[in-house]
Amino acid sequence: MSPVAPVDIPVFPDDCDAYGHVNNAAFVRMFERARWEALRAGPGVDVFQRHGVAPVVRRATVEFHAPAHPGQVLRFDVTLVHLGRTSFSLHQTARRADDGVLVAEADMVFVCLDGQDRPTEVPAAIRQHFGTRPSVRPGMLQHYSVRGLALTADVLGDGPAILFIHGFPLDRTMWRHLAATLTGWRRIAPDLRGAGLSDVPDGGYSMTEYADDLAALLDVLRVESTVVCGLSMGAYVAFALLRRHPGKVRGLVLANTRAEADTPEGLKGRDEMIALVEGGGSEAIVERLMPKLFAPSSLTAMPQVVEHVRTMIANSPPRGVIGALEAMKARDDQTAFLPEINVPTLVIAGREDQLISNDRSKALADAIPEAQFTLIPEAGHLTPMEQPIATGRVIGEFLEAIS
Ligand code: MLT
Repeated sequence: MSPVAPVDIPVFPDDCDAYGHVNNAAFVRMFERARWEALRAGPGVDVFQRHGVAPVVRRATVEFHAPAHPGQVLRFDVTLVHLGRTSFSLHQTARRADDGVLVAEADMVFVCLDGQDRPTEVPAAIRQHFGTRPSVRPGMLQHYSVRGLALTADVLGDGPAILFIHGFPLDRTMWRHLAATLTGWRRIAPDLRGAGLSDVPDGGYSMTEYADDLAALLDVLRVESTVVCGLSMGAYVAFALLRRHPGKVRGLVLANTRAEADTPEGLKGRDEMIALVEGGGSEAIVERLMPKLFAPSSLTAMPQVVEHVRTMIANSPPRGVIGALEAMKARDDQTAFLPEINVPTLVIAGREDQLISNDRSKALADAIPEAQFTLIPEAGHLTPMEQPIATGRVIGEFLEAIS
């Protein structure tokens, strides 16, 4: 996330074209104003002058996403995405302040010149103010006020919506590589309550509460209906979303999941994990979970993915992890509901999933009218992370077929 506070700028009539939309040239101006405001709130608008440096724009690209009209307030975020010796790049976003809709994005490349117009060093104050380079291109992260909570979500691109619901005990970032493959779709990946960067309330952990949070988030984002893609626990939430808010779900992708409730043995395992987290925080369950989540080959061949998952688990808020375990313990068996599912459905399984057998996944697909079933090779329980390209291709074809 950008370390720089967002800047709010209202849209005035003279920013707009004859049709009442913010005009493309006005966006360039507004992005510039937002940058100056960000500097004013930090090292001062004279920061370059003080260092005898002139910042010159070498490249500016503005991508338009959604209309904005006079009277609306736009919220501008800026992040340093590249820092060289004499140049730096900023990524900027403009969102409607009331509903968080991404209106436009800008990428700006600057070169610093000295008094003789020769390239010179970027002032240290710029680096300090905008922060160091993040590992992943930011700009899509947003907090949404939903049912008295702040839920975090990555919202990416434009088009028909697809909502991604993460598994346990993970967060929205598990989808980032897969989501990057699905251009042409508005990809919405929230952190459930108690996960990632979302608020961690004391209570309200159940599949129905999670589902109601997401339905409210869709309302905030003005999404009438969406394809819902859930991984494992995320699919338990997807079942609840479909049951409670059927009008909002126009398709389902159920990845690495099952319809049955916990067995007595499964319930015992949940209690053991709750005790571990109570005693030692979320880190205490990392080693227990890691070997079960991946195909054995992924554990050695994908150190970055393994590290990402390890970090997600260790950083999960303990109250949220316990809440999710309680929610899974209490969840209803959905087997009898499966024949009633009347939206296009794709079931995905990882060939080497150690938590959910391929037979169980196939049976899930067979029980849902006309559901498709796909087995992804060289993947365990985290198929979308272990094989994001192959999984993205399968989901992309499914989305194309149903739209
Ligand atoms: C998940 O990946 O979300 C979990 O494996 C779900 C579960 O434990 O039932």
